[in-house]
Amino acid sequence: MTAFSPHPDRRALLAGAGALLVGRPAQARPLNLRHIAARGGRLYGAAIEPQTVEGDPAFRALVQAQCGLLTPENAMKWNAIAPASGVFDFAPADRVIAIAQAQGAAVHGHCLVWHEAMPPWLEAALRSNPSPDAVRSLMVDHIRRVAGRYRGRIRSWDVVNEVVERNDLRPDGLRRSPWLQALGPDYLALAFQTARAADPHARLALADYGLEYDDEPWMREKRATMLHLLRRLKAAGLPIDALSIQGHLLGDRPPAFGSGLRDFLRQVAALGLEIHVSELDVNDQKMAGSVAERDRTSALIYRRFLEAVLAEPAVRSVTSWGLSDRYTSKTTMFARTDGAPVRPLPFDRDLAPKPSAFAIAAAFGEVLRPLEDEWR
Ligand code: XIL
Repeated sequence: MTAFSPHPDRRALLAGAGALLVGRPAQARPLNLRHIAARGGRLYGAAIEPQTVEGDPAFRALVQAQCGLLTPENAMKWNAIAPASGVFDFAPADRVIAIAQAQGAAVHGHCLVWHEAMPPWLEAALRSNPSPDAVRSLMVDHIRRVAGRYRGRIRSWDVVNEVVERNDLRPDGLRRSPWLQALGPDYLALAFQTARAADPHARLALADYGLEYDDEPWMREKRATMLHLLRRLKAAGLPIDALSIQGHLLGDRPPAFGSGLRDFLRQVAALGLEIHVSELDVNDQKMAGSVAERDRTSALIYRRFLEAVLAEPAVRSVTSWGLSDRYTSKTTMFARTDGAPVRPLPFDRDLAPKPSAFAIAAAFGEVLRPLEDEWR
Protein backbone atom coordinates (compact mmCIF):
# COMPACT_ATOMS: atom_id res chain seq x y z
CA MET A 1 0.00 0.00 0.00
CA THR A 2 1.49 3.30 -1.05
CA ALA A 3 0.88 6.74 0.41
CA PHE A 4 -1.53 7.57 -2.36
CA SER A 5 -3.67 4.43 -2.15
CA PRO A 6 -7.32 4.80 -1.19
CA HIS A 7 -8.20 4.26 2.45
CA PRO A 8 -8.42 0.53 3.18
CA ASP A 9 -11.74 0.90 5.03
CA ARG A 10 -13.28 1.80 1.75
CA ARG A 11 -12.33 -1.42 0.01
CA ALA A 12 -15.77 -2.91 0.42
CA LEU A 13 -17.29 -0.11 -1.60
CA LEU A 14 -15.02 -0.84 -4.49
CA ALA A 15 -15.87 -4.50 -4.57
CA GLY A 16 -18.99 -3.66 -6.55
CA ALA A 17 -17.06 -1.79 -9.19
CA GLY A 18 -16.83 -4.82 -11.45
CA ALA A 19 -20.48 -4.58 -12.42
CA LEU A 20 -21.28 -2.92 -15.70
CA LEU A 21 -23.35 -0.28 -13.96
CA VAL A 22 -22.68 3.20 -12.70
CA GLY A 23 -24.58 5.56 -10.46
CA ARG A 24 -27.03 4.75 -7.70
CA PRO A 25 -29.18 1.67 -8.30
CA ALA A 26 -32.24 3.77 -9.10
CA GLN A 27 -30.43 5.50 -11.92
CA ALA A 28 -28.04 2.72 -12.84
CA ARG A 29 -27.11 2.53 -16.51
CA PRO A 30 -24.41 0.80 -18.48
CA LEU A 31 -20.90 2.15 -18.13
CA ASN A 32 -20.31 3.62 -21.55
CA LEU A 33 -17.19 5.72 -21.85
CA ARG A 34 -17.96 6.72 -25.41
CA HIS A 35 -21.27 8.29 -24.41
CA ILE A 36 -19.98 9.71 -21.15
CA ALA A 37 -17.22 11.54 -23.05
CA ALA A 38 -19.62 12.62 -25.79
CA ARG A 39 -21.95 14.22 -23.24
CA GLY A 40 -19.09 16.63 -22.49
CA GLY A 41 -18.44 17.14 -26.19
CA ARG A 42 -15.34 14.96 -26.14
CA LEU A 43 -14.19 11.72 -27.68
CA TYR A 44 -13.08 8.60 -25.85
CA GLY A 45 -11.45 5.76 -27.70
CA ALA A 46 -8.65 3.23 -27.90
CA ALA A 47 -5.78 2.02 -30.01
CA ILE A 48 -6.56 -1.27 -31.72
CA GLU A 49 -5.01 -3.91 -33.93
CA PRO A 50 -7.45 -5.00 -36.64
CA GLN A 51 -6.83 -8.72 -36.14
CA THR A 52 -7.76 -8.74 -32.46
CA VAL A 53 -11.01 -6.91 -33.10
CA GLU A 54 -11.92 -9.09 -36.08
CA GLY A 55 -10.97 -12.34 -34.40
CA ASP A 56 -12.73 -11.79 -31.07
CA PRO A 57 -16.44 -10.97 -31.25
CA ALA A 58 -16.73 -10.19 -27.53
CA PHE A 59 -13.81 -7.79 -27.72
CA ARG A 60 -15.24 -6.26 -30.85
CA ALA A 61 -18.51 -5.62 -29.02
CA LEU A 62 -16.63 -3.92 -26.20
CA VAL A 63 -14.68 -1.71 -28.63
CA GLN A 64 -17.89 -0.86 -30.42
CA ALA A 65 -19.69 0.05 -27.22
CA GLN A 66 -16.90 2.04 -25.60
CA CYS A 67 -15.01 3.79 -28.40
CA GLY A 68 -15.99 6.83 -30.39
CA LEU A 69 -12.43 7.16 -31.67
CA LEU A 70 -9.98 4.51 -32.85
CA THR A 71 -6.23 4.67 -33.42
CA PRO A 72 -4.39 1.99 -35.35
CA GLU A 73 -1.86 0.86 -32.75
CA ASN A 74 0.63 -0.20 -35.44
CA ALA A 75 -1.18 -0.52 -38.78
CA MET A 76 -0.41 2.98 -40.06
CA LYS A 77 3.23 3.05 -39.06
CA TRP A 78 5.79 3.23 -41.82
CA ASN A 79 7.06 -0.33 -41.28
CA ALA A 80 3.52 -1.68 -41.56
CA ILE A 81 2.64 0.27 -44.69
CA ALA A 82 5.91 -0.13 -46.60
CA PRO A 83 7.51 -3.44 -45.54
CA ALA A 84 9.91 -3.32 -48.51
CA SER A 85 11.06 -0.55 -50.79
CA GLY A 86 8.26 0.17 -53.25
CA VAL A 87 6.00 -2.47 -51.65
CA PHE A 88 2.90 -1.18 -49.89
CA ASP A 89 0.46 -2.97 -47.65
CA PHE A 90 -2.50 -0.86 -46.73
CA ALA A 91 -4.70 -3.81 -45.81
CA PRO A 92 -4.38 -3.65 -41.99
CA ALA A 93 -4.82 0.15 -41.97
CA ASP A 94 -7.83 -0.16 -44.29
CA ARG A 95 -9.31 -2.71 -41.90
CA VAL A 96 -8.97 -0.31 -38.98
CA ILE A 97 -10.79 2.34 -41.02
CA ALA A 98 -13.51 -0.19 -41.86
CA ILE A 99 -13.90 -1.17 -38.19
CA ALA A 100 -14.23 2.50 -37.24
CA GLN A 101 -16.74 3.19 -39.99
CA ALA A 102 -18.85 0.19 -39.00
CA GLN A 103 -19.23 1.53 -35.48
CA GLY A 104 -19.44 5.22 -36.35
CA ALA A 105 -16.12 6.04 -34.71
CA ALA A 106 -13.62 8.68 -35.83
CA VAL A 107 -10.02 7.70 -36.60
CA HIS A 108 -6.85 9.20 -35.17
CA GLY A 109 -4.01 8.49 -37.57
CA HIS A 110 -0.74 7.38 -36.00
CA CYS A 111 1.84 8.27 -37.19
CA LEU A 112 3.38 9.69 -40.37
CA VAL A 113 6.95 10.48 -39.30
CA TRP A 114 8.71 8.80 -36.38
CA HIS A 115 12.32 7.83 -35.73
CA GLU A 116 11.05 4.39 -34.69
CA ALA A 117 8.93 1.87 -36.59
CA MET A 118 10.96 2.51 -39.72
CA PRO A 119 11.25 -0.46 -42.07
CA PRO A 120 14.82 -1.77 -42.43
CA TRP A 121 14.98 -0.74 -46.11
CA LEU A 122 14.23 2.85 -45.07
CA GLU A 123 16.91 2.87 -42.39
CA ALA A 124 19.35 1.54 -44.96
CA ALA A 125 18.29 4.15 -47.51
CA LEU A 126 18.70 6.97 -45.00
CA ARG A 127 22.15 5.67 -44.15
CA SER A 128 23.33 5.10 -47.68
CA ASN A 129 22.07 8.37 -49.10
CA PRO A 130 21.44 10.99 -46.42
CA SER A 131 21.47 13.86 -48.91
CA PRO A 132 18.72 16.43 -48.27
CA ASP A 133 17.08 15.77 -51.64
CA ALA A 134 16.89 12.03 -51.12
CA VAL A 135 15.63 12.26 -47.53
CA ARG A 136 13.13 14.95 -48.43
CA SER A 137 11.59 12.92 -51.17
CA LEU A 138 11.34 9.80 -48.99
CA MET A 139 9.48 11.76 -46.32
CA VAL A 140 7.27 13.78 -48.66
CA ASP A 141 6.31 10.76 -50.79
CA HIS A 142 5.37 8.76 -47.71
CA ILE A 143 3.22 11.50 -46.19
CA ARG A 144 1.49 12.15 -49.51
CA ARG A 145 0.84 8.49 -50.10
CA VAL A 146 -0.55 7.70 -46.65
CA ALA A 147 -2.34 10.92 -45.70
CA GLY A 148 -3.59 11.16 -49.29
CA ARG A 149 -5.01 7.64 -49.30
CA TYR A 150 -7.01 8.30 -46.13
CA ARG A 151 -7.91 11.88 -47.01
CA GLY A 152 -11.28 12.79 -45.53
CA ARG A 153 -11.39 9.69 -43.30
CA ILE A 154 -8.98 10.76 -40.56
CA ARG A 155 -10.05 13.15 -37.82
CA SER A 156 -6.53 13.87 -36.68
CA TRP A 157 -3.00 12.78 -37.57
CA ASP A 158 0.07 12.49 -35.42
CA VAL A 159 2.21 14.01 -38.16
CA VAL A 160 5.52 13.80 -36.31
CA ASN A 161 5.93 11.63 -33.24
CA GLU A 162 8.45 12.16 -30.41
CA VAL A 163 10.31 15.21 -31.68
CA VAL A 164 11.97 16.44 -28.48
CA GLU A 165 14.97 14.71 -26.86
CA ARG A 166 17.07 16.59 -24.37
CA ASN A 167 19.80 13.96 -24.38
CA ASP A 168 20.54 14.89 -27.98
CA LEU A 169 21.83 18.18 -26.56
CA ARG A 170 20.63 20.59 -29.21
CA PRO A 171 19.83 24.12 -27.99
CA ASP A 172 16.35 23.86 -29.51
CA GLY A 173 15.76 20.52 -27.78
CA LEU A 174 14.92 18.71 -31.01
CA ARG A 175 15.71 15.05 -31.43
CA ARG A 176 18.53 14.28 -33.83
CA SER A 177 16.34 11.99 -35.90
CA PRO A 178 17.47 11.06 -39.41
CA TRP A 179 14.95 13.63 -40.69
CA LEU A 180 16.46 16.38 -38.62
CA GLN A 181 20.01 15.34 -39.43
CA ALA A 182 19.39 15.56 -43.15
CA LEU A 183 16.91 18.42 -43.37
CA GLY A 184 17.47 20.47 -40.23
CA PRO A 185 14.60 21.70 -38.04
CA ASP A 186 12.65 22.68 -41.15
CA TYR A 187 11.73 19.04 -41.65
CA LEU A 188 8.84 19.79 -39.30
CA ALA A 189 7.47 22.52 -41.55
CA LEU A 190 7.82 20.27 -44.56
CA ALA A 191 6.03 17.38 -42.83
CA PHE A 192 3.10 19.51 -41.70
CA GLN A 193 2.73 21.35 -45.01
CA THR A 194 2.79 18.08 -46.91
CA ALA A 195 0.21 16.54 -44.59
CA ARG A 196 -2.05 19.56 -44.89
CA ALA A 197 -1.92 19.46 -48.66
CA ALA A 198 -2.61 15.71 -48.68
CA ASP A 199 -5.59 15.90 -46.31
CA PRO A 200 -6.78 19.47 -45.75
CA HIS A 201 -9.45 18.50 -43.20
CA ALA A 202 -7.47 16.36 -40.80
CA ARG A 203 -6.31 18.06 -37.62
CA LEU A 204 -2.54 17.89 -37.62
CA ALA A 205 -0.74 17.11 -34.39
CA LEU A 206 2.72 16.94 -32.97
CA ALA A 207 2.96 14.04 -30.51
CA ASP A 208 5.26 13.36 -27.59
CA TYR A 209 5.69 11.56 -24.28
CA GLY A 210 7.21 12.73 -21.01
CA LEU A 211 5.01 15.80 -20.56
CA GLU A 212 2.83 14.43 -17.79
CA TYR A 213 4.48 14.56 -14.37
CA ASP A 214 4.94 17.72 -12.28
CA ASP A 215 7.54 16.12 -10.01
CA GLU A 216 9.94 14.97 -12.72
CA PRO A 217 12.55 17.60 -13.59
CA TRP A 218 13.23 16.35 -17.14
CA MET A 219 9.52 16.38 -17.89
CA ARG A 220 9.14 19.94 -16.61
CA GLU A 221 12.04 20.88 -18.84
CA LYS A 222 10.45 19.03 -21.75
CA ARG A 223 7.23 21.00 -21.30
CA ALA A 224 9.18 24.25 -21.58
CA THR A 225 11.01 22.99 -24.66
CA MET A 226 7.73 21.87 -26.21
CA LEU A 227 6.08 25.23 -25.54
CA HIS A 228 8.97 27.07 -27.18
CA LEU A 229 8.79 24.75 -30.13
CA LEU A 230 5.02 25.09 -30.54
CA ARG A 231 5.27 28.88 -30.30
CA ARG A 232 7.96 28.90 -32.92
CA LEU A 233 5.99 26.62 -35.24
CA LYS A 234 2.82 28.69 -34.86
CA ALA A 235 4.74 31.93 -35.42
CA ALA A 236 6.24 30.47 -38.59
CA GLY A 237 2.72 29.79 -39.85
CA LEU A 238 2.90 26.01 -39.82
CA PRO A 239 -0.41 24.21 -40.32
CA ILE A 240 -0.41 22.63 -36.86
CA ASP A 241 -3.69 22.13 -35.01
CA ALA A 242 -2.95 19.99 -31.99
CA LEU A 243 -0.58 18.53 -29.46
CA SER A 244 -0.91 14.83 -28.66
CA ILE A 245 0.24 13.99 -25.16
CA GLN A 246 0.84 10.26 -25.04
CA GLY A 247 -0.10 9.75 -21.41
CA HIS A 248 1.92 6.63 -20.59
CA LEU A 249 1.57 6.84 -16.80
CA LEU A 250 3.47 4.90 -14.17
CA GLY A 251 1.85 2.76 -11.51
CA ASP A 252 4.80 2.94 -9.16
CA ARG A 253 4.96 6.68 -8.66
CA PRO A 254 2.54 9.14 -7.11
CA PRO A 255 0.09 10.91 -9.40
CA ALA A 256 1.81 14.31 -9.47
CA PHE A 257 -0.58 15.98 -11.90
CA GLY A 258 -1.22 19.44 -10.54
CA SER A 259 -0.79 23.07 -11.42
CA GLY A 260 2.32 22.40 -13.50
CA LEU A 261 0.41 20.15 -15.89
CA ARG A 262 -2.63 22.41 -15.93
CA ASP A 263 -0.51 25.51 -16.65
CA PHE A 264 1.28 23.70 -19.44
CA LEU A 265 -1.99 22.67 -21.06
CA ARG A 266 -3.39 26.18 -20.68
CA GLN A 267 -0.38 27.62 -22.46
CA VAL A 268 -0.67 25.08 -25.25
CA ALA A 269 -4.35 25.95 -25.58
CA ALA A 270 -3.51 29.66 -25.63
CA LEU A 271 -1.65 29.03 -28.87
CA GLY A 272 -4.96 28.00 -30.41
CA LEU A 273 -4.09 24.30 -30.35
CA GLU A 274 -6.30 21.36 -29.49
CA ILE A 275 -4.90 18.77 -27.13
CA HIS A 276 -5.31 15.00 -27.34
CA VAL A 277 -4.39 12.40 -24.77
CA SER A 278 -3.34 9.87 -27.36
CA GLU A 279 -1.83 6.78 -25.67
CA LEU A 280 -3.19 6.56 -22.16
CA ASP A 281 -2.30 3.63 -19.92
CA VAL A 282 -0.87 2.93 -16.47
CA ASN A 283 2.23 0.76 -16.47
CA ASP A 284 1.92 -1.68 -13.55
CA GLN A 285 5.14 -3.53 -14.23
CA LYS A 286 6.70 -2.43 -10.94
CA MET A 287 3.60 -2.08 -8.78
CA ALA A 288 3.47 -4.03 -5.55
CA GLY A 289 0.42 -5.40 -3.80
CA SER A 290 -2.53 -7.59 -4.63
CA VAL A 291 -4.44 -7.29 -7.87
CA ALA A 292 -7.18 -5.39 -6.05
CA GLU A 293 -4.69 -2.97 -4.52
CA ARG A 294 -2.94 -2.41 -7.83
CA ASP A 295 -6.22 -1.83 -9.60
CA ARG A 296 -7.31 0.73 -7.01
CA THR A 297 -4.02 2.58 -7.22
CA SER A 298 -4.11 2.55 -11.03
CA ALA A 299 -7.65 3.93 -10.91
CA LEU A 300 -6.50 6.73 -8.67
CA ILE A 301 -3.71 7.57 -11.12
CA TYR A 302 -6.14 7.59 -14.06
CA ARG A 303 -8.52 9.74 -12.11
CA ARG A 304 -5.99 12.31 -10.96
CA PHE A 305 -4.41 12.60 -14.41
CA LEU A 306 -7.68 12.95 -16.24
CA GLU A 307 -9.14 15.39 -13.74
CA ALA A 308 -6.17 17.69 -14.30
CA VAL A 309 -6.21 17.23 -18.05
CA LEU A 310 -9.94 17.47 -18.62
CA ALA A 311 -10.08 20.73 -16.65
CA GLU A 312 -8.60 22.20 -19.83
CA PRO A 313 -11.36 22.66 -22.43
CA ALA A 314 -8.84 22.37 -25.30
CA VAL A 315 -8.46 18.66 -24.48
CA ARG A 316 -10.79 17.13 -27.06
CA SER A 317 -10.06 13.42 -26.91
CA VAL A 318 -8.76 10.69 -24.67
CA THR A 319 -7.45 7.48 -26.23
CA SER A 320 -6.42 4.45 -24.21
CA TRP A 321 -3.46 2.49 -25.61
CA GLY A 322 -5.58 -0.62 -25.94
CA LEU A 323 -8.90 -1.16 -24.20
CA SER A 324 -8.69 -4.47 -22.38
CA ASP A 325 -5.76 -6.14 -20.62
CA ARG A 326 -6.50 -9.09 -22.94
CA TYR A 327 -4.63 -7.22 -25.69
CA THR A 328 -1.87 -4.90 -24.57
CA SER A 329 1.65 -4.52 -25.90
CA LYS A 330 2.69 -4.04 -22.26
CA THR A 331 2.40 -7.84 -21.89
CA THR A 332 5.63 -8.26 -23.81
CA MET A 333 7.21 -4.82 -23.50
CA PHE A 334 6.73 -4.37 -19.73
CA ALA A 335 6.26 -7.86 -18.31
CA ARG A 336 6.24 -8.18 -14.53
CA THR A 337 9.05 -10.05 -12.80
CA ASP A 338 6.51 -12.05 -10.74
CA GLY A 339 5.05 -13.39 -13.98
CA ALA A 340 1.59 -12.00 -13.19
CA PRO A 341 -0.32 -10.62 -16.18
CA VAL A 342 -0.05 -6.86 -16.58
CA ARG A 343 -3.17 -4.76 -16.01
CA PRO A 344 -2.59 -1.34 -17.60
CA LEU A 345 -6.00 -0.77 -19.22
CA PRO A 346 -9.54 0.09 -18.11
CA PHE A 347 -11.07 -3.33 -18.87
CA ASP A 348 -9.69 -6.62 -17.59
CA ARG A 349 -8.87 -9.78 -19.52
CA ASP A 350 -12.48 -10.92 -19.16
CA LEU A 351 -13.55 -7.59 -20.67
CA ALA A 352 -15.10 -6.44 -17.39
CA PRO A 353 -14.56 -2.84 -16.31
CA LYS A 354 -11.91 -2.32 -13.65
CA PRO A 355 -11.89 0.53 -11.15
CA SER A 356 -9.89 2.42 -13.79
CA ALA A 357 -12.86 2.38 -16.18
CA PHE A 358 -14.99 3.97 -13.47
CA ALA A 359 -12.23 6.45 -12.73
CA ILE A 360 -12.18 7.51 -16.38
CA ALA A 361 -15.95 7.89 -16.32
CA ALA A 362 -15.75 9.95 -13.15
CA ALA A 363 -13.09 12.22 -14.61
CA PHE A 364 -15.33 12.82 -17.62
CA GLY A 365 -17.91 14.08 -15.14
CA GLU A 366 -20.09 11.02 -14.70
CA VAL A 367 -21.64 10.99 -11.25
CA LEU A 368 -20.20 7.97 -9.56
CA ARG A 369 -20.84 8.60 -5.95
CA PRO A 370 -19.28 5.64 -4.10
CA LEU A 371 -16.08 5.69 -6.11
CA GLU A 372 -15.88 9.44 -5.94
CA ASP A 373 -15.97 9.26 -2.16
CA GLU A 374 -13.26 6.68 -2.30
CA TRP A 375 -10.84 8.83 -4.20
CA ARG A 376 -11.36 12.20 -2.53
C1 XIL B 1 4.01 0.56 -29.63
C2 XIL B 1 2.98 -0.54 -29.84
O1 XIL B 1 2.07 -0.53 -28.78
C3 XIL B 1 3.65 -1.88 -29.96
O2 XIL B 1 2.71 -2.88 -30.32
C4 XIL B 1 4.77 -1.83 -30.98
O3 XIL B 1 5.47 -3.05 -30.98
C5 XIL B 1 5.71 -0.69 -30.70
O4 XIL B 1 4.98 0.52 -30.63
N1 XIL B 1 4.86 5.44 -28.31
C6 XIL B 1 4.14 5.42 -29.49
C7 XIL B 1 3.49 4.16 -29.92
O5 XIL B 1 3.95 6.47 -30.12
O6 XIL B 1 3.38 4.05 -31.31
C8 XIL B 1 4.16 2.94 -29.34
O7 XIL B 1 3.37 1.81 -29.68
C9 XIL B 1 4.33 3.09 -27.85
C10 XIL B 1 5.17 4.28 -27.52
